Amino acid sequence: MYTTDELLEKINRHIAQLEFTRQPKGLYEPVSYVLSLGGKRIRPLLMLMAYNLYRDDVENIFSPATGIEVYHNYTLLHDDLMDKADRRRGKPTVHKVWDENTAILSGDAMLVLAYQFMAGCPSACLKEVMDLFSLTALEICEGQQMDMEFETRKDVAEEEYLQMIRLKTSVLLAGSLKIGALLANAPEADAERLYDFGINLGVAFQLKDDMLDVYGDPNVFGKNIGGDILCNKKTYLLIKAFEQADERQHRMLDSWVDAKIYVPEAKISAVTALYDEIGVKTQCERLIEEYTTRAQEALQAVEVPEERKQALTGLMEKLMYREI
Ligand code: IPE
Ligand code: IPE
Ligand code: MG
Ligand code: MG
Ligand code: MG
Repeated sequence: MYTTDELLEKINRHIAQLEFTRQPKGLYEPVSYVLSLGGKRIRPLLMLMAYNLYRDDVENIFSPATGIEVYHNYTLLHDDLMDKADRRRGKPTVHKVWDENTAILSGDAMLVLAYQFMAGCPSACLKEVMDLFSLTALEICEGQQMDMEFETRKDVAEEEYLQMIRLKTSVLLAGSLKIGALLANAPEADAERLYDFGINLGVAFQLKDDMLDVYGDPNVFGKNIGGDILCNKKTYLLIKAFEQADERQHRMLDSWVDAKIYVPEAKISAVTALYDEIGVKTQCERLIEEYTTRAQEALQAVEVPEERKQALTGLMEKLMYREI
């Protein structure tokens, strides 16, 4: 069995040697650009870790592991357009370096490339893997659509938010783990438990991402701080703030959310100050812990020796306390 660092090193090395040599360059350069910026690579890592619970020949699944990372990076190209985000991984986003059409089309190409890589998985479970991958990709579109629709609503309930992040984020972490399990020919029940682990881990992961979007250090986080506030994203922080605001705070939140013309920095600092006053950060941290505990419980039920699962527990804890 490999350590997390060893698996990360392996998949990073594999992705680094990929070459996109087809023409025109203008379509493929952004693909190489975004992949060269790295990122945490947690989705392929989760796939390899799930596989490695059962089997050691991890090179066998480098192609689908690459597929899941290329797919994730495709979602980022389109997500950054939708969220009007200028920075990612400490560098300008694709639509800033090139233009919006490039982000759309290179993104489309990456989605197709992701399918090609995924279809390079061991053929015994090709159909099952492709079916799960397709369902996951569809669910992510659904989550992203909900995320966009929520921007113009003020009555988004906590449950709706949780369902939205389950779709836009958790299913990809869960799917990565389950694909790893399927490819390793793990027992069906284990594959389901790993999926469940990923769903709960993913909710905690997105809650933390939403928190870092407000409270992170831009130089570490690599994205601009306050982007969610500017877009009126219905994050857990904003939903809870609306829910618990007194009359004055409610009026102020309303006026910032409704404002058509404003200084971006002023909106970010005013809304952040309201979050601080109302105390929603602590509540968010508590919910992250709750979902981490649920994830741990799902992992506990996976029927492999405890010591083999420690790497997944360790990664989960690292993600929960991450600043990036
Ligand atoms: C960003 O994902 C999108 C979310 C689901 C929050 P990551 O935080 O995994 O981004 P990278 O790949 O490490 O840059
Ligand atoms: C991530 O949501 C969901 C997907 C990319 C599918 P965010 O919009 O919060 O991700 P970041 O913060 O831009 O990475
Ligand atoms: Mg975004
Ligand atoms: Mg988004
Ligand atoms: Mg975010």
